Amino acid sequence: MKALRVGIAGLGTVGASVARIVVEQGEALSARCGRRLELKAVSARDKRKDRGFGMAGVEWFDDPVTLARSADIDLFAELMGGEGDPAKAAVEAALQRGVPVVTANKALLAHHGVELANAAESKDLALNFEAAVAGGIPIIKALREGLGANRISRVYGILNGTCNYILTTMEASGRSFEDVLAEAQRLGYAEADPTFDIGGMDTAHKLSLLAAVAFSNAPALDGIHVEGIERITPLDIKFAHEFGFRIKLLGLATRTANGVEQRVHPAMVPLGTPLADVDGVFNAVVAEGDLVGKSVYEGRGAGAGPTASAVMADVLDIARGVRLSAFGSPASRIQRPKIVPISEHSGACYLRFTVIDRPGVIAVLSRCLADQAISIESMLQRSRSPGGAVPVVMITHEAEESAMAKALSAVVATGIVMEQPCMVRIERF
Ligand SMILES: NC(=O)c1ccc[n+]([C@@H]2O[C@H](COP(=O)([O-])OP(=O)(O)OC[C@H]3O[C@@H](n4cnc5c(N)ncnc54)[C@H](OP(=O)(O)O)[C@@H]3O)[C@@H](O)[C@H]2O)c1
Repeated sequence: MKALRVGIAGLGTVGASVARIVVEQGEALSARCGRRLELKAVSARDKRKDRGFGMAGVEWFDDPVTLARSADIDLFAELMGGEGDPAKAAVEAALQRGVPVVTANKALLAHHGVELANAAESKDLALNFEAAVAGGIPIIKALREGLGANRISRVYGILNGTCNYILTTMEASGRSFEDVLAEAQRLGYAEADPTFDIGGMDTAHKLSLLAAVAFSNAPALDGIHVEGIERITPLDIKFAHEFGFRIKLLGLATRTANGVEQRVHPAMVPLGTPLADVDGVFNAVVAEGDLVGKSVYEGRGAGAGPTASAVMADVLDIARGVRLSAFGSPASRIQRPKIVPISEHSGACYLRFTVIDRPGVIAVLSRCLADQAISIESMLQRSRSPGGAVPVVMITHEAEESAMAKALSAVVATGIVMEQPCMVRIERF
């Protein structure tokens, strides 16, 4: 059979690793998929940079869109990143020319996934994006194929290795968020501009894709409630342990009677449950299906090897002639889900108030919560500092978000707290 000629745009962490695999392991992979793979053409910004693989016989393009349009490639791998052009224009150009696409670009798909999936399906082409969610964990394949017969009720997990590394290190060392973030940047675990990771947006991009595949919907990024980990302190992590939890940044998508609820925020996860034990840069995803029950997937969520592993799985599928709808169901049939707003969510919470240590303060806190019908499961006030600031922490019973927001505003209005209350939702799986 004719070789599958691969064109790669983007030769950074992921692209260079994918190119190296095609060049160096082409034969072994060809034996596995029954078709020879050939690295035909590449594009990046700097032609002089050493990419760590032999470029002899590989055509160079300064412009990724021109590469995507080239008549010499049979597969286009978009590994540049970014929600707009040139990534979007290049993917569109490849599909228009009738070339299947593999991408690791969650931002592109979260924003333009349905439009691109329609373009792919109108020409009967694959648009594969395994590497866009949870790096090396084959979760898109698991949801789209292995669990394809299930009605998935909930999919959730730890989807950002940078945040998980920061929270794990804060816990182990007792150091502050700022301190650990600076170290993560020095070690290359966090970007120079970490806003997308720590603010939860990277997790939201991935969650929108997971939920789309799990529930056969269009991705609905703007329907995700997003909070990051910036306000978590070592004190919260310590109290979480005392109450029997660890704090993790989670992405959660749930099918409810009223629509789909999608949330990204730090959460307290019970010790001893699978997500609580996921440390460092690892990711994990849990899917709950009507037939299979709960299934758990864990692995490396980023980095050259794991991400290239996922990209290559998509390449091999195309070499084998496998084509599935990008989001599992035909793109023409998927629709934006009805979104359940966070205000309608109910759950238990951890609350930390920094109050002035004087008699009657606890009674004021309790009254503000009771006025909104929120009851307290347990409460701790460890230190004493008469007239000074002390933390008071509590775990509530299940309460509605809207009631919780009113109670916290009421607490602030009394003037007894010295900073905004900290609230972390509790997820009991
Ligand atoms: N890194 C990971 O662990 C990981 C994990 C999962 C998914 N992803 C996704 O994979 C994609 C690539 O990530 P990465 O970490 O490999 O990024 P990266 O290291 O920053 O590499 C980006 C590459 O794209 C090239 N590029 C950027 N703009 C270009 C343009 N206008 N024209 C041509 N080439 C251009 C760059 O060229 P130069 O090298 O010449 O500057 C570079 O080679 C992103 O969508 C990312 O979200 C990454």
